[in-house]
Amino acid sequence: MKSIVILISGRGSNMQALIEAALPVRIAAVISNNPDAAGLEIAKKHNIETCVVDHRQYSDRAEFDLLLADKIDLYRPSLIVLAGFMRVLGGDFVNKYKDKLINIHPSLLPAFPGLGTHKKALKEGVKIHGCTVHFVTSEVDHGPIIIQATVPVLPDDTNETLAARVLLQEHRIFPEAVHLFVEGRLEISGSSVKVCNEISEN
Ligand code: GRF
Repeated sequence: MKSIVILISGRGSNMQALIEAALPVRIAAVISNNPDAAGLEIAKKHNIETCVVDHRQYSDRAEFDLLLADKIDLYRPSLIVLAGFMRVLGGDFVNKYKDKLINIHPSLLPAFPGLGTHKKALKEGVKIHGCTVHFVTSEVDHGPIIIQATVPVLPDDTNETLAARVLLQEHRIFPEAVHLFVEGRLEISGSSVKVCNEISEN
């Protein structure tokens, strides 16, 4: 069975959705850059190994990235999953795990990269909003898109109501994307991802 490592920074609801999906994959570890991430407790309750690489202990990003990679490599994962991991990863780190690093973002990329996506969607008056699971490249919130899900933006929406509607979809498509990856059904071609019908053993 393939192994994955999940990186978190906070609440961990997407990580929890991955755990509860009971995918045919071993969650080898959950690593957080934030020692106070609530998600760490959730992982522990599921008997998943946890580890903290606190970014505040390192003088620069490159050093943090190296230490983080060392930790990840201990578990020899086939896939590294960014589930609400709020640190920007440097180019060397991203290249090291090319095509093995995926992220969930709460907008329909390429619209609204960065933080505050729901606020931005409300400000722009978009009628459709959503979330994206994508392979990570060195450009933040950018990279070949695996799955997207849409939600309507309703006239009375607040940041909170819209975020909650999107989050439900995140919890649905993130496990689906990881499942496709572990079945070897994702083929990256330039900036797009093809979902193959055939399950590959590689
Ligand atoms: C999610 O909205 C995710 O898309 C974004 O950060 C949030 C993390 O939430 N990258 P959680 O920690 O998974 O609950």
